[in-house]
Amino acid sequence: MAFAQSLPENGKVITIEKFKNFADIARRNFKRNKLDEKIDLLEGDAFEILGKLKGREQFDFIFIDGNKEKYRHYMEVSIPLLSPGGIIAVDDCFFHGDALNVSPITEKGKGSKEALNFSATLSGWIRIALPISNGILLLTRE
Ligand SMILES: C[S@@+](CC[C@H](N)C(=O)[O-])C[C@H]1O[C@@H](n2cnc3c(N)ncnc32)[C@H](O)[C@@H]1O
Repeated sequence: MAFAQSLPENGKVITIEKFKNFADIARRNFKRNKLDEKIDLLEGDAFEILGKLKGREQFDFIFIDGNKEKYRHYMEVSIPLLSPGGIIAVDDCFFHGDALNVSPITEKGKGSKEALNFSATLSGWIRIALPISNGILLLTRE
C-alpha cells in the first residue's frame, strides 16, 4: 500500500500472494484504504506467476519479500521483467545475520545467502546491500 500511495496517477502495483486467507485480508485492506484500483493482487505461487509475466509486463521496481528459500530463483525470473533503469529490491537479505554465516543455520538464511552470492555473479549490474533492519539488497543495471 505504501508503494501504491507513492505512485503517479497512472502507476500500478502488481503483488503476488500464494495463500488465499492472506490474499483475502490484503484485498480487504486495499479496498478499505481506497487503493484497490491501484493494486492488482495475483493469487498463486510467485515463481510460477513471475514466469508467466515474462514478455508481457515490465516493471520499474520489483520488491522481493517472501519465501526466502527461493530468493535466488525470484531474482533470476525478475531480471527479464525489469525495465531499463529499474530497480530490484530484495528484503531481509541478511536474514537476522544468518546469511552472513559461512554456513547459515536456517533455510531462510541459506536462501538469503544464495541471493547475495548470486548478485555477486551478475556482471553489468550495480548492487548494494543496505544495512537497514535485516538488510535490503538493491540491484540496477549499469
Ligand atoms: C514477509 S510477507 C510480505 C510482506 C509485504 N511485503 C508487506 O510489507 O506487507 C511474505 C508474504 O509472502 C507470501 N508467500 C510465501 N510464499 C509465497 C510464494 N511461494 N508465492 C507467493 N507468496 C508467498 C506469504 O504468505 C506472506 O504473505
